[in-house]
Amino acid sequence: MRDEFDEPQMPAPAGEAGAETAASVTAAEAPTTASTVPDSIRLLNRDFLTDAANLPDASIDLIVADPPYGLGKDYGNDSDMRSGEDFLAWTYGWLDLAIPKLKASGSLYVFCTWQYAPEIFVYLKSKMTMINEIVWDRRVPSMGGTTRRFTSVHDNIGFFAVSKDYYFDLDPVRIPYDAVTKKARSRKLFEGSKWLELGYNPKDVWSVSRLHRQHAERVDHPTQKPLEIVERMVLASCPPGGRVLDPFMGSGTTAVACARHQREFVGYEINESYCAIAHERVSMAAIAAPARASAAVSTAVAAGA
Ligand SMILES: C[S@@+](CC[C@H](N)C(=O)[O-])C[C@H]1O[C@@H](n2cnc3c(N)ncnc32)[C@H](O)[C@@H]1O
Repeated sequence: MRDEFDEPQMPAPAGEAGAETAASVTAAEAPTTASTVPDSIRLLNRDFLTDAANLPDASIDLIVADPPYGLGKDYGNDSDMRSGEDFLAWTYGWLDLAIPKLKASGSLYVFCTWQYAPEIFVYLKSKMTMINEIVWDRRVPSMGGTTRRFTSVHDNIGFFAVSKDYYFDLDPVRIPYDAVTKKARSRKLFEGSKWLELGYNPKDVWSVSRLHRQHAERVDHPTQKPLEIVERMVLASCPPGGRVLDPFMGSGTTAVACARHQREFVGYEINESYCAIAHERVSMAAIAAPARASAAVSTAVAAGA
């Protein structure tokens, strides 16, 4: 398994190591027989770009998109082998397919890198309202590497909304004050303040360690995102019982967040092995929290996807 933050790589030629993980392009849903994956979580072994038409417009509360970054990662397919203008044209193409799926109150988070964030954000600003640029500080820098510029240790995340009336609930994602800070704010003036009890608004720099290979959460996917990050997006930007779309679900991090927090989910992934991992992770989440996971009810997703 290569690491997300290794140097860019080119695909293994057929027959060499890595080729056996080549994506299944067969349209199929990950196996659900005798599984504990709730009906509200749809894990599709399909290509979002060719399948998006099957998803109804204006049916999604939140899109969490973590696409190939255009850096040559090996996902067992050639999906990350575009670069430059070719990569940007592909990105604009899937964004054009995804944005109409959002409800009027909906929003989109898109992960990307500093290499392409300027162009992607300019494009999105022509279609949506920009709410934030979030910087994910991965904390641990890549090993070795460059001596001709500063080491990059962040991903850019664009947060965009369909309109100014977008859904946003700060309370579930507030960060509790520590005892010392609370004590320092114990003057009469602050007594009974909601923000003091519930905590503060997370800043737009999110310092969360990347998932190194020994991390308990880590599975066999080269660019798996920390659950903590995606959970914050889901809790703040999708109402309870609402529906989340992940066009590039990889190992299913967004699906797990939805299973844990009673949101419906539909996700697409072209690599059959990653779909199987997502299936396993969602099953585990459902077993860990059966009451929470089974509370979510599948409705329109079943009809549309
Ligand atoms: C950056 S990874 C997503 C990682 C995911 N957020 C996680 O935490 O595991 C991007 C994924 O998109 C998949 N992919 C690439 N092109 C796709 C397409 N057209 N439709 C669906 N999935 C695609 C790749 O196979 C890869 O697993």
